[in-house]
Amino acid sequence: MHTIARSRYDLVAMTLHWVIAVMLIFMVFFGGDLMRGGTDVSAERKVFLASLHVSFGTIILLLSVFRLAWRLINPPPPLPATMARWEVALGKATHLAFYAMMTGMPVTGWLSLPSHVARHPYYAETSIVGLILTPLAPDLGLPAGRLHSLGAKLGMVLIGLHVLAALKHQFFDRNGLLRRMSPL
Ligand code: HEM
Repeated sequence: MHTIARSRYDLVAMTLHWVIAVMLIFMVFFGGDLMRGGTDVSAERKVFLASLHVSFGTIILLLSVFRLAWRLINPPPPLPATMARWEVALGKATHLAFYAMMTGMPVTGWLSLPSHVARHPYYAETSIVGLILTPLAPDLGLPAGRLHSLGAKLGMVLIGLHVLAALKHQFFDRNGLLRRMSPL
């Protein structure tokens, strides 16, 4: 029996890609605003906005772990044979960095919460999707806040690179790479 190589990701992988993409872009560009809350804002509202930040981050982490497991069980379709070796290598490195960011950002964020609470005790009331108070992380002596902030900046660069690469494949190489992740 012949098996025909798939040319697209499966529906689960596509759904995870686009849901995580929207959430991650929002968090990388506006997550800081949620966490700072702004001036002239009540402590209650600041806790609500910080809870959104923590909840989105936790959901991104859970979806990303599931996505990683799904990818290991369901390998992606083969890349177009016309792609240069450096393109394949750069693509792999970018995707690896994305997985590191999608899992590393929630962890460094969680590790940096205690210092935030030390400065503003009301952040101890921050909850995950309104269900549980965010557990306070142990102090591992890491500059977690700085790592988290650096991760967000690297995240902006990664997202930019990824979008530029997709546009190059779509409009310059015209190799149909974007269709692999498109359900349409
Ligand atoms: C993918 C997930 C996440 C992204 C993309 C993200 C993004 C960001 C961004 C952009 C900032 C502002 C950094 C700056 O102003 O330089 C920030 C701050 C912060 N985030 Fe997250 N975050 C994520 C998950 C989390 C989670 C799960 C938690 C807590 C459980 C968290 C806790 C914090 C805290 C406490 C700060 C303030 C850090 C400080 O000022 O020391 N983050 N985050």
